[in-house]
Amino acid sequence: MTTPTIPLFLDCDTGVDDALALAYLLDVPHVDLVGIGTVSGNIDSTTAAVNTTALLGMCGRTVPVAVGAHDPLGGVYGGGAPHVHGVNGVGGVDLPAGVAAAEDPAAELLVRLARSYAAGPRRLDVLAIGPLTNLAVALDLEPRLPELIGTLTIMGGAVWEPGNVSPVAEANIHNDAEAARRVLTAGFDLVLVPLDVTRQHRFDDADGDRFIAAGDPLRVALGTMLHRYIDFYETVDQVRRAPLHDPLAAAIAAGEVEPTVRETALDVVVDGTEHGRTVPAAQGPVVQVVVGADAAAADVIRNRILQLDAVHA
Ligand code: BDR
Ligand code: CA
Repeated sequence: MTTPTIPLFLDCDTGVDDALALAYLLDVPHVDLVGIGTVSGNIDSTTAAVNTTALLGMCGRTVPVAVGAHDPLGGVYGGGAPHVHGVNGVGGVDLPAGVAAAEDPAAELLVRLARSYAAGPRRLDVLAIGPLTNLAVALDLEPRLPELIGTLTIMGGAVWEPGNVSPVAEANIHNDAEAARRVLTAGFDLVLVPLDVTRQHRFDDADGDRFIAAGDPLRVALGTMLHRYIDFYETVDQVRRAPLHDPLAAAIAAGEVEPTVRETALDVVVDGTEHGRTVPAAQGPVVQVVVGADAAAADVIRNRILQLDAVHA
C-alpha cells in the first residue's frame, strides 16, 4: 500500500539539528515540502533563510523559503545560541549561496498555503522546529488556522523532564513563550515532541564520520556541523552524543517513527523564573505529548540522510 502524500510546511531556525531535519525530510518520498518559513531562534530569521536556501541548493531542490519574525512577540531577539550552533547557525561551516528567499513573510506564506490546501483533497500539515512566533502571527492573520490545517507537529517543551535553557524551560518555547502559549492553547490537532523524548534518541561521532565519508558537499557539511554540535553536548551530558530534537519531530511528522503519546492540556509560563515552562493544565485543548518513540528512530533518520540525492559537484 502506498503512503498518501503529505503536503508539509516547515517552520525552522536553521540550526544544526534543523539542517539534519531538512535533509531527512527531503528524502521522504511521501513528504511534499511545499513551503518553509524561518524564525529567529538558534540564529536570526534572515540567516536561517540563508542557511535553508543553501542546503536546498546543495540538494538541487527548490522550495519557497520565506523569512519570518526577527523578534519574539512583545520582545527583542536575544542573539541565538552560537555556543551550540556556531556563529552562523550551522556550526561555522561555510555553505554555498542558495537562491533568494520568497517575498512573502513566513506567516503570510503559511496562511496562503493553508487556505489553498484546505480547498483541496488533503489539508496542509505543519512542522515547527523553532520558536512559535510565525505560527502565532499566522493565527492573528487567520484565526481559523487550526481548522484549515491537518496536524501541527512542534519540537518544543519539557513537560515531565528538566529543560535545556533553564531548569524547567526548553529553548524553542523559552525564546517566545507568549507565542507558544497562544499556539498550544489554540485548538490545533497538535503533536508536541518535547525534550522528554528527544533526549532519548541521539547521533554520535560515528554518524558524523559516515556523513563525511559520503564525500559530497551536503553530507560533508552535515557531518562537520554534527561533530561541532556534539562538542557542545559533551559539555552538557559528558557523552559525545547529540539529541535528535528536530530530526525526531520530522520523522514523527512524516509518519516514519511511531510515537508513544500522553494526552494533556498544556499551558506555558510567560512570567517569572519559570518563564517558558510547559505545564500540564486542567483545562484547555488536549495536546498529544510524545513521551517515547521507536528505538530505531536514529537509524531511520541516518539512513535517509545517507541516501538523499544531493548535488555532487
Ligand atoms: C530546540 O532548540 C533549538 O536549539 C534546536 O534547533 C531545537 O529546535 C531544542 O531545544
Ligand atoms: Ca530548531
